[in-house]
Amino acid sequence: AGVFRRPPELVPYETGFDDGDPARPYERFALTQKLGQAQLVPGLSTTIAGYNGIFPGPTIRARQGTRTEVRIRNGLPQAGLLHPGAFRTVTHLHGSASLPQYDGYASDFTAPGNVKNYHYPNWQTARTLWYHDHNQHVTAQNVYAGLAGFYPMADRFEQAQLPQGEYDVPLMVSDAMFKADGSLGYNDNGRKGLWGDVILVNGVPWPTMKVKPRIYRFRMLVASIARSYRPTLSTRDPVYIVGTDAGMVPVVQAVQSWRQGTAERYEVLIDFRKYRAGQLIELRNLSNKNNIDFANTNKIMRFEVVADSGPASLNRIPSTLDDGGALNPARGGVATMSLQPAMAKAKRSLTVDRTGGEWSINGVTWADVEKSGYSRLFGNPQPYDIEEWTLINASGGWFHPLHVHLVDAKIIGRNTNRGKPFAWENGPKDVVYLGENESATILTQFDTGPGAGGRYMIHCHNLVHEDHDMMVQFAVGDWRV
Ligand code: C2O
Ligand code: CU
Repeated sequence: AGVFRRPPELVPYETGFDDGDPARPYERFALTQKLGQAQLVPGLSTTIAGYNGIFPGPTIRARQGTRTEVRIRNGLPQAGLLHPGAFRTVTHLHGSASLPQYDGYASDFTAPGNVKNYHYPNWQTARTLWYHDHNQHVTAQNVYAGLAGFYPMADRFEQAQLPQGEYDVPLMVSDAMFKADGSLGYNDNGRKGLWGDVILVNGVPWPTMKVKPRIYRFRMLVASIARSYRPTLSTRDPVYIVGTDAGMVPVVQAVQSWRQGTAERYEVLIDFRKYRAGQLIELRNLSNKNNIDFANTNKIMRFEVVADSGPASLNRIPSTLDDGGALNPARGGVATMSLQPAMAKAKRSLTVDRTGGEWSINGVTWADVEKSGYSRLFGNPQPYDIEEWTLINASGGWFHPLHVHLVDAKIIGRNTNRGKPFAWENGPKDVVYLGENESATILTQFDTGPGAGGRYMIHCHNLVHEDHDMMVQFAVGDWRV
């Protein structure tokens, strides 16, 4: 147990306007990937590889309508921290409709000593994005070493409806294992995944956070390599789901627990008003099938209520939320949660399985994509096409959080839960949790904003599965550049 902390916020080194036009603001940030020492286990020091040498990396706050550039220098040593290969990196901003050359394509690496300037458009709705490493076949080791950070994006709708500032709290939940000297242990359990015995929240084991008796908004991100969670409060009181991966939910859902896999983001409101000063409330983990549990992986963190109640602003539980609707209506853009099956131009099915000792998607692995010169595609929709995809888990007793780059999706059905999406996932998503023998049907629009087409990855976000080799790609529009 430790004291809760928030990652520091990064300040832009330059702000300005494109072509001097006040309607087109930008902000420029700089990050250096380097080794650092972290105090994760009491009394011991752990070598990590982080953005600016810290874990989690600094939080980058963005605003809809202000584009950002992030200049990322690879200041890491030649050899990887947890793998013997070169310490190459490529950064993906998860949740952003970035142009393909800035999307963290797995083979598009930056070698130690080099710099890449990433451009992010920020035209989408407010959401909790995160940036992390995506280097081909070693993403698990690189992210586990510490290469991950938050990138919350605000817009005026979200700012008018949900708690802000001190009451808007990012929670990066991960798990790790340590050797006796404090260094990070790594064990992928025969390519199934990594399950650590220590739960970290923003890099602190099982922290305690002091909270005022009011409503808080938590942006929970699972940044574990493989572990999934089923969080619940020790009081058995409900929490209120106000946001999913790609933005606010239209109808707020009260749940006693929810299921959350790697890379999924759930924004929840917790109402501390009725608790007395000094009361301790735990955020526990009920676990899901096929995780490896240890003595204390049933706990995530705890809250200690203090006396001072704080300001009254945005201190309520809304029942519905307004995200402002369609973003690019002139180009045919439809708000994700307004997508309907009749709008779909094509239906595809995507089956995840094991093929020849590797994890695969429709029988294809990333090695197959590499062998094709990165030309093998799962699909090639045109910009703004709407499609219906059925995601099927045929791999038996494993769960897979499946991520589609570029797009936001609406889950319209499941083969479990009486055919319906789970209560907590009735909002825009970019990761779909496929539990054991589960399938899910999604609607998605290939909304490229003002951008051009190109290739984007689809993969399991259990990063060990992604590396071995559960990743394919689709392309939007004219992609042969
Ligand atoms: Cu969060 Cu392809 O990644
Ligand atoms: Cu998987």
